[in-house]
Amino acid sequence: MKGIILAGGAGSRLHPLTKITSKQLLPVYDKPMIYYPMETLIDGGIEEILVISDPHNIGNFVRLLGSGKDFGVKISYEVQDKPEGIAQAFLIAENFIGDDNVTLILGDNLFVGNGDFLQDAIRTFKFGGRVFAKQVKDPKRYGVVEFDEQKNVISIEEKPDKPKSDFAVTGLYIYDNSVVDKAKNLKPSKRGELEITDINNLYLKGSQLDVKIYEHYWLDTGTFDALLEAGNKIYNLKNTTPTAS
Ligand code: TTP
Repeated sequence: MKGIILAGGAGSRLHPLTKITSKQLLPVYDKPMIYYPMETLIDGGIEEILVISDPHNIGNFVRLLGSGKDFGVKISYEVQDKPEGIAQAFLIAENFIGDDNVTLILGDNLFVGNGDFLQDAIRTFKFGGRVFAKQVKDPKRYGVVEFDEQKNVISIEEKPDKPKSDFAVTGLYIYDNSVVDKAKNLKPSKRGELEITDINNLYLKGSQLDVKIYEHYWLDTGTFDALLEAGNKIYNLKNTTPTAS
């Protein structure tokens, strides 16, 4: 299993914080944001990680993370020239992925305090696609899962005006090697992006999408409030963890 951290994007909702730096380099309490998704991949047993960012910021990621030696993994880097969609990561990463399966995590997504849940989900993955849906207050911002009466997933809609549930697809996606070919056949959406939701719907059509309900703490830190909440959450976790005396 290879791992990708997608850490580009415009970060426009965090202006002016992100005018001169990347969102994923901003602090979440005591670490740069990208450390958290990186730890999620490492906990899942992934040893080779590709960091993708924009041309302006990629050098700062190299300075921060280097070869990965300090983290016990191998880190490489690629540039996304323009933010043309999350699914573009699989085109950029084609050589890196090679013949392996791949887990993609968004650089601004924090999954904390889930014990072994994600670790097991990554380690036990065999084929198809596996994504994680979380109940949220504002589903319109996300890919939203539609269920039938038996709770089977029947579709995923990207940023719908009228969400058919309040379950959002989170920014951690586990795919088999066919994701590269699937990405090659995508057409850009109306907003000009290669959509990860289209990839998920392709797996769904082939009855190969495993949608797991995620009941632990998850935050996409793309807004001021979410960034502050994430920092507070990490602070609270660190300061309430019992220490040996
Ligand atoms: P978003 O939060 O949807 O976009 P953004 O980071 O550009 O922020 P804003 O909407 O405020 O302008 O992106 C989710 C994550 O995916 C984030 O970590 C950035 C990353 N991303 C890329 O690296 N490249 C892309 O083409 C896209 C669409 C997102």
